[in-house]
Amino acid sequence: MDTNLHANQLDQLIDRLSPLWADPRERNLLAKMVQALDDRYGLSGKMALEPGVADILAQMTGRLAGAFGNLSGLRGLKILDIACGSNSSRAPAAVHVNTPFGKLTLGRPPKGYTALFEPWFCRMLIELGADPVGVDMGDLEREAFTHHRADLGQPGALDFLPEHSFDALQDSRLFGSPEFTAQFPRSADRLQVAREIRRQERRLLKPGGILIHSDALDLVG
Ligand SMILES: C[S@@+](CC[C@H](N)C(=O)[O-])C[C@H]1O[C@@H](n2cnc3c(N)ncnc32)[C@H](O)[C@@H]1O
Repeated sequence: MDTNLHANQLDQLIDRLSPLWADPRERNLLAKMVQALDDRYGLSGKMALEPGVADILAQMTGRLAGAFGNLSGLRGLKILDIACGSNSSRAPAAVHVNTPFGKLTLGRPPKGYTALFEPWFCRMLIELGADPVGVDMGDLEREAFTHHRADLGQPGALDFLPEHSFDALQDSRLFGSPEFTAQFPRSADRLQVAREIRRQERRLLKPGGILIHSDALDLVG
């Protein structure tokens, strides 16, 4: 694919997401973030191969808009992403994406490597000046954000993080991931882990901190 087509991919994504903000400074931040994701991680090439990458970014951007309003307000915030994705993560058979512009289900993703579940949320947060911390069992070795490899299926896996130390956090798509469903085929066991993740989320958030998204909350309340 030539350079013009790559630039087109980026422009289309920026045009799709810009209406989330009326303020030109916020739109400018968004455009800079998308460009940085392309420069550092080859975003446009990945969107060309897997268009669903753009939908995942739309979903994550929508979550930030919903939780914080302005992107500029993220500067300096410490944000935990539980099961943040990695450079070795696999895709489930069906991927449901709730973007600010509607819900969609991605076509069957590749069985092996997929760019869908690289750690896009933490990468976006770094570009926006936040201080993300990602936890996952996959490969995060070359990532620029603070990251920890942990088995979230083990009780107490997040105990090493100090209590009330995060301004915001999310857990997203751990429970339906192929790695997790293989580890915990019984739904009762998955619910047990969801209860533990919720306990940790309550423990780790600062008073008044923001729960950006929690599948665990949807599962166990
Ligand atoms: C589908 S990806 C989700 C990525 C991103 N959070 C999102 O919403 O798009 C699921 C992630 O959960 C991680 N994972 C699955 N089981 C895990 C476990 N027991 N401990 C830690 N991470 C796990 C996988 O490595 C993968 O990166």
